[in-house]
Amino acid sequence: MRRGGEARWVTIAEPAAAGLDGGVVDVRLVVARGLVPSEPPSWLPLVADDWARLRAFRREADARRFLTGRVIVAEHAREVLGDHAGRLRFVRRLVAAGEEKPRYAPAPGERWAAPVPDVSISHSGEVVVVAFCADADVGVDVEQHAAFAGLDDAALRVVLSAAERQPLRTRADVADAFTAKEAVLKAVGWGLAVDPLRLEVRDGRVTRFDAPQARPVSLCRLEEPGEASASLAVAARA
Ligand SMILES: CC(C)(COP(=O)(O)OP(=O)(O)OC[C@H]1O[C@@H](n2cnc3c(N)ncnc32)[C@H](O)[C@@H]1OP(=O)(O)O)[C@@H](O)C(=O)NCCC(=O)NCCS
Repeated sequence: MRRGGEARWVTIAEPAAAGLDGGVVDVRLVVARGLVPSEPPSWLPLVADDWARLRAFRREADARRFLTGRVIVAEHAREVLGDHAGRLRFVRRLVAAGEEKPRYAPAPGERWAAPVPDVSISHSGEVVVVAFCADADVGVDVEQHAAFAGLDDAALRVVLSAAERQPLRTRADVADAFTAKEAVLKAVGWGLAVDPLRLEVRDGRVTRFDAPQARPVSLCRLEEPGEASASLAVAARA
C-alpha cells in the first residue's frame, strides 16, 4: 500500500481551451485523508529549505500537512522516474514577487531522461491533495467547508465578484468557488499574488482573466467525499 494516499487519474477533456492541442490531458491525483507523523522518515529527501520550514512550524498539524505532501511527491517520483529519482530534489524558489510553485529539480550536474511532471499541492485539515501532470502546468486546491463558517460578505468580496457571489447559497458553494479560483491561480504559478478579482469563474469556466500573468486555463471540479470541495486546473506549459 502507498504510504502517501490513494492515487487516481483524472482526465481533463477540454484542453483546447487551455491552449493544448492533444484532445485530453491526464493528471495523476493523489489524495491523503490522514497525515503522516511530524518526524520525517529517514528515506524522505528533504532540502535545507524544507528543514528550515519544519523547524519554523508552530503547530504540529502544519508540519504533518507539509510532510504528507513531501511524502506523496517523493513516492510519485520513485514510481514514475524509478532509478532517476535517487537524487531527486523538490524545491521552491523565493523570488522578488514571492514564492514560486515548488518543482522537481535534478541534482546539480544531472539530467533526467523522462519528462519532469509539474506538481501542485494543497492541504486542508487532514486532507492533502497532490496533482502531477507531465503535459501541462497544473493547479489543485482543496478546502474544508468548515473553513468558511462565519465568513462574512466583506471577506467574500475580496475574492469573488458580484456575479460569482450571486448564486452562492451554502458553505459548499462558497468552498467550490474559492477552490476553482485558487486552482487556476496555482496552475499559472502565481497563487494569490494575483488579485483574485482579476479572474472570474462562472458555471465552472473561466469567463475572464485579465491579469498580466493570465494564460488560458481549463478547470474541473473534483468529487471529494465528505465536507470538502476541490478543483483542478491545467494550462499549457509556460
Ligand atoms: C499558493 C497559495 C495560493 C496557497 O494557498 P493556501 O490555500 O493557503 O494553501 P494550499 O494548501 O492550498 O497550498 C499550499 C501549497 O501551494 C504551493 N504553492 C506555493 N506557492 C505557489 C505558487 N506560486 N503557485 C502555485 N502553488 C504554490 C505549495 O506547494 C504549497 O504547499 P507546500 O508549502 O507544502 O509545498 C498561497 O500560499 C499564495 O498565494 N502564496 C503566494 C504565492 C506567491 O508568492 N506568488 C508570487 C510568486 S510567483
